[in-house]
Parts: sequence; C-alpha cells; structure tokens
Amino acid sequence: MDPVLVTGGCGFIGSNFIRYLLTTDPEISVINFDQLTYAGNLANLADLADHPRYRFVHGDIADRTAVRRVVSAGVRAILNFAAESHVDRSIHDSSPFIRTNVLGTQVLLDAAREFGVPRFLQVSTDEVYGSLGETGLFTEETPLAPNSPYSASKAAGDLLVRSYVHTFKLPAVITRCSNNYGPYQFPEKLIPLFITNLLADQPVPVYGDGLNVRDWIHVRDHCAALDLVWRHGRVGEVYNIGGRCEKTNLELTYTLLDILNKPRSLIRFVKDRPGHDRRYAIDCSKIERELGWRPRIPFIEGLRETVQWYIDHPEWVASIRTGEYLRYYEKQYGRLAC
Ligand code: NAD
Ligand code: DAU
Repeated sequence: MDPVLVTGGCGFIGSNFIRYLLTTDPEISVINFDQLTYAGNLANLADLADHPRYRFVHGDIADRTAVRRVVSAGVRAILNFAAESHVDRSIHDSSPFIRTNVLGTQVLLDAAREFGVPRFLQVSTDEVYGSLGETGLFTEETPLAPNSPYSASKAAGDLLVRSYVHTFKLPAVITRCSNNYGPYQFPEKLIPLFITNLLADQPVPVYGDGLNVRDWIHVRDHCAALDLVWRHGRVGEVYNIGGRCEKTNLELTYTLLDILNKPRSLIRFVKDRPGHDRRYAIDCSKIERELGWRPRIPFIEGLRETVQWYIDHPEWVASIRTGEYLRYYEKQYGRLAC
C-alpha cells in the first residue's frame, strides 16, 4: 500500500502523530515532508529515524516541484500539519505565515488534485473562529472571525480546502483543535516555555491580567482524533476537537508552579499580546457522535507527565534553548528558513 504523506512531521503535533501512527498501525508507512524551520526538530523522531516504514524528506510545502516529486510517486493520503504556528511570531512578521499556511496549502491541494490522492486532511485550529465571551462554545457552524495574522492565514488555508472540495470534488476533511500540550512542544508556547523557565528558576511572563481562557487537550488525544478523521471523516466536513478543559492562564500557571514546587513570586505580569483573544472553548460533540472519539487523558495527569518529560529530557531542552539543534541541521542541509 502507498505511504501517507505527513507534512510538518518534525514539529510538535506532527512528530507525536507519526509516532502514534507507526505504533498503532502495523501496515502503515509514512513519509515525513518537513522544511525544518526553527520549529522542526529531527530529534523529535530520532527514535524512529531508522524505522523500516518511515522516511524523511527535507522540503518546503510551498515548493511546487518538491511537492510534485513526492506526491507523484504515489501517496494514499496527504495529512497537512506543516505550518507557522506561533501567534506572537505572526504579529512580528506575517510573511512566512502567508507563504506556508496559505500558499503551501494551495500547492498541496493542487498536487492532491493532479495525482488523484484519495484523502486530504487539513490540520487546523479553533483560532479561526475568533474569540468568545464568558459563555458559549465554538461549533463547526460558528462563522470564521480570525483575529491574528496566524489565525487569518489558517482560515485562508481552510477556505482553500473548502473550495477544492466544492469545485474539484477533492476528498478533503478539516479538523479544528484547541490548545495542545505534551512532549516535544517547542518552548515558545505557554506550557513548555513556563516549564523550562521554572526548571531554570527563571520568571514566567503572564500576558495582561492572566485571565484569558484556553481549552487544553493532550497531544495524544488530538492524534487519536486526527487518525479517526483522516480515515473515517466525511468528505467536506469540519470536525472540532477539544479537551473540554477550560483554564485561565493564571490558573494554569499556579498549577505548574505547584507541580514544580516553585514560588508564585516567579510570576511576572507583562504587557498584553496585541489583539489577544479572550476565550476559546470547543464543542466537540460532532466527532464524539460520528466517530466515537472523546478526550481520555485527564488534564492534571497529562500535565504532570508533560512536566516529567521536560525534566527527563534536559539535552533536548538545552539544544533548543541554545539553538544547537539548528546549527546541526545547517551542517546537514545547508541554510534553514526561520
Ligand atoms: P510546530 O510549529 O511545532 O511545527 C510545525 C512544523 O511544520 C515544523 O516541523 C516545521 O519545520 C514545519 N514547517 C513549517 N513550514 C513548513 C513548510 N513551508 N514546509 C514544510 N514544513 C514546514 O506546530 P504544531 O504546534 O505541531 O502544529 C501543527 C499543526 O497543528 C499546525 O497546522 C497548527 O496550526 C495546528 N494546530 C496546533 C495547535 C497547538 O496547540 N499547537 C492546536 C491546533 C492546531
Ligand atoms: O487554540 C489553538 C492554538 O493554540 C494553535 O492554533 C496555535 O498554534 C498554538 O500556538 C496555540 O495558540 P495560543 O496563542 O493560544 O498559544 P500560546 O501558548 O502562545 O498562548 C497560550 C495563552 O497563554 C494565550 O492566552 C497567551 C498566553 N501567554 C503565552 C505565552 C507564550 C502568556 O501569558 N505568556 C506567554 O509567554
């Protein structure tokens, strides 16, 4: 059987997903197509590098020639995780977000169409729906109202997918998930940034009043949902995925301080993120009803396990915090995008 093409498999969720696929499906083979930006880390899959059903290809999803080369050899699905994913970076410079999240998605869709790929999964985000007030949940029918350049670029990608389903009958599905946490997350996002700072007895920067709310889901629960959707989701449908676990950033920060036994004096309230979305909360009843999925990992257990993972992997943390891993790839692959 042809392999699945996973794009962005050296990032946080993509690497967890490839590990999930290879350990749960003995038949599947995977091509991981990744540009190795600052967020892509070969070390995330070092244990699987020589796996007989795994192959890494260094490439940019916005590079039509490179994408056509891989897809023309035959793939049974394209699962698109590749993205610029950090809101703060998109506020600083939105250009790479438009290139990868919009143009890159278009290039993948064209290749899927040209070579008749039987399945396309667009891994998207709840941020495309914008921000909620104190009550209510995002459903799949909530109008798109992205507020950051990141979420706008993801919404544009989603709309392109939708248009290819409608116009070309491309067999695509879209997922929109809430905030993930777990092993191998790049320490620019709240949870790994705070854990790694606290392990070094450094302060943690809480934006604004710390009362913004996020819905947290363990990355393995997200992976299980994605695996069901790409195989069994209905073509043209959107599936929301969430953890049913709303926390304010301050609540979460207190929990991390408690787990690590660190004092609250390490909290620094800093200037708010421009356009900071106040609250995200997901209604994931559609995927529960149609595909029998539900989040299984209790938040406090998942968070303790995640903290322990960062404690147990000091070399991984150090190589990211010093940039050492980028210098290693530059030697292997030449200059990398960032
Ligand atoms: P990440 O930033 O950790 O990883 C992104 C990966 O994509 C990296 O390996 C990077 O090298 C690769 N990449 C970037 N540009 C590329 C390009 N042009 N060509 C090929 N590869 C490229 O991101 P993540 O947190 O793992 O997110 C994965 C996907 O899930 C993204 O589409 C994101 O929008 C979505 N998502 C993330 C979350 C979350 O909480 N992290 C939640 C919902 C949805
Ligand atoms: O909701 C899904 C999204 O979750 C994904 O699409 C994004 O790729 C992912 O980055 C994440 O976006 P957020 O902006 O919610 O995640 P982040 O970890 O950057 O921030 C979480 C919350 O914590 C948010 O309210 C901002 C706040 N924050 C973040 C950082 C990095 C802080 O207070 N201090 C910080 O230093």
